[in-house]
Amino acid sequence: MKYIQHSGKTLSIVDLIALKQAGEKISCLTAYDASFSALIDKVGIEVILIGDSLGMVIQGQSSTVPVTLDEIIYHSRCVTRGRKQAFVMADLPFSSYYSKTIAMENAAKLMQQGGVQMVKLEGTRIAVIEFLVDQGIPICGHLGLLPQSINQLGAYKVKGKEQQEADKIFEDAQKIEQAGAGLLILECVPSVLAKRITESLQIPVIGIGAGVDCDGQILVLYDMLGLGEGKRPRFTQNFMEGADSIENAIKHYHYAVKKSLFPTFKQSY
Ligand code: KIV
Repeated sequence: MKYIQHSGKTLSIVDLIALKQAGEKISCLTAYDASFSALIDKVGIEVILIGDSLGMVIQGQSSTVPVTLDEIIYHSRCVTRGRKQAFVMADLPFSSYYSKTIAMENAAKLMQQGGVQMVKLEGTRIAVIEFLVDQGIPICGHLGLLPQSINQLGAYKVKGKEQQEADKIFEDAQKIEQAGAGLLILECVPSVLAKRITESLQIPVIGIGAGVDCDGQILVLYDMLGLGEGKRPRFTQNFMEGADSIENAIKHYHYAVKKSLFPTFKQSY
């Protein structure tokens, strides 16, 4: 297994596709500030996401819905200042991509002011994805559990357990790739569905609660550091357990992803 070594060069989507083709796992984490970004980068994690999860873990909101574009831009600027090598992408927040032109305006701001290399949006917005890709905006899709839809869903639950729903997610993944997306995140879906999707796509598929067969894994940084009160989702693991520093916990996570030691069946559905 050949890990990407620090070369001073910032990774591109082409490097991530090369990792998929070489069968090497892609390790990803969220970050929201320059200090954690620099640490994650130093460890060698390949992708940093400025997720709208910042609404919950930074701002103490009960969902990602209140997060604004300006807040994502602010945290993206902090993160991009801290990293050297990692590929950086950020979420388009709730209600910031409801039409092609609004999505274009907001994605451009996120790239120009936030400095990110790709924007992520939830769901099957094929016309929006095609339009953004045509305008030169790299896109990461997001299927399975869609946290921005929590007020329609009512609860954070696994998606695709029923065959009909699984087939719909599978078909949506194909459409998102055909629309030109460069990456896909699958959140909280059965491992067997995630494996089927990962094998069917050319673009890298990154899982969170989607089993070990995805091309890579992502976790919310504060979850993997065991921060926060209350019941944790099944798919997370506290890597601070047994680690003597935050840096070593992040190294352990990186190693576990690279060696397919995380997630195990305990963190999968
Ligand atoms: O907002 C976020 O952190 C995310 C990850 C959970 C994938 O979308």
